[in-house]
Amino acid sequence: MNKSNKIYVAGHRGMVGSAIIRELKDQGFENIITRTHSELDLTNQQQVQEFFSQEKPDQVYLAAAKVGGIFANDTYPADFIYQNLMIEANVIHSAFKSGVKKLLFLGSSCIYPKLADQPMKEDALLSGYLEPTNEPYAIAKIAGIKLCESYNRQYGESHGIDYRSVMPTNLYGPGDNYHPENSHVIPALIRRFHNAKINNEEKVIVWGSGNPKREFLYVDDMASASVHVMNLDKEIHDQNTKEMCSHINVGTGKDLSIGELAKILKKVVGFAGEIEFDSSKPDGSPRKLMDSSRLNILGWNPRVDLERGLTLTYENYLQNIMSQ
Ligand SMILES: NC(=O)c1ccc[n+]([C@@H]2O[C@H](COP(=O)([O-])OP(=O)(O)OC[C@H]3O[C@@H](n4cnc5c(N)ncnc54)[C@H](OP(=O)(O)O)[C@@H]3O)[C@@H](O)[C@H]2O)c1
Repeated sequence: MNKSNKIYVAGHRGMVGSAIIRELKDQGFENIITRTHSELDLTNQQQVQEFFSQEKPDQVYLAAAKVGGIFANDTYPADFIYQNLMIEANVIHSAFKSGVKKLLFLGSSCIYPKLADQPMKEDALLSGYLEPTNEPYAIAKIAGIKLCESYNRQYGESHGIDYRSVMPTNLYGPGDNYHPENSHVIPALIRRFHNAKINNEEKVIVWGSGNPKREFLYVDDMASASVHVMNLDKEIHDQNTKEMCSHINVGTGKDLSIGELAKILKKVVGFAGEIEFDSSKPDGSPRKLMDSSRLNILGWNPRVDLERGLTLTYENYLQNIMSQ
């Protein structure tokens, strides 16, 4: 791995992109280039082509995407499919045209069918119907994987390109979105437990029965997995993936119920009241766990356990609200 490589991180202000920058700097990569959304709109083909032909990076981490919760996905399906398809097509094609040899595309566990066997293995892709609420987003993410695979198949040998994909489970950590109506379960609960603690409330109501099980990965672990996969030896990578099933799951291999998660968060935040579950609210899938054994065989394991990750996340939340 060449530490002087010129590396473009797309989406560097996002939760994952900023963690990738921290990881790259920690590992001694210094030649990192970035552009904000207002400096470079990745849905704009001409702007993206000009950027790549001027900068000619060696490696690209594609962590820019239009991301949102169930409500946003259900309300703005056209924005989710159009913007994500455009970002991926523009970045991957312009990267290829400008001679980028190595690119890492970040997808999501929502690419897998709604009723996929648990834990979900990489080859569950395209084996059944997707969850309808985020189908447009998932289709765009599947297209991103297939773009990487198709460019590798057509130009891998002739142009020496090697474009890879990673599929993270649910992520949390510094830089997360704490929006009151549009945030994922961990930031939403941190916010609610914190406010309940400050206001001396007696209880916090958690939506659903608390029974569904989910998997969570600390974002710095996701960043370290991304840099690991990007720099894996090609022979080892190719031996453990398939030409048309090349994506790699990134998770902890462990899940827990939302009820158990709420108990840990109550302790981390220091809320002394009760947790009440509102079973009239929908639960979603009973279980969503990824099989990350492909990545484990490739030499990567997570470092940050859930309680420690949640503690670091709450510390970061407190720092942010104090600096506002
Ligand atoms: N968060 C999770 O739990 C999770 C789980 C699985 C997979 N992932 C994947 O990880 C990737 C990054 O997610 P994240 O959580 O870091 O999302 P995020 O915090 O919303 O960051 C996304 C970044 O992309 C930028 N962006 C969006 N549209 C753009 C455009 N047209 N041109 C230029 N920049 C644009 C955003 O900039 P602006 O904010 O300025 O628009 C933002 O900096 C995504 O592919 C997502 O699917 C995330």
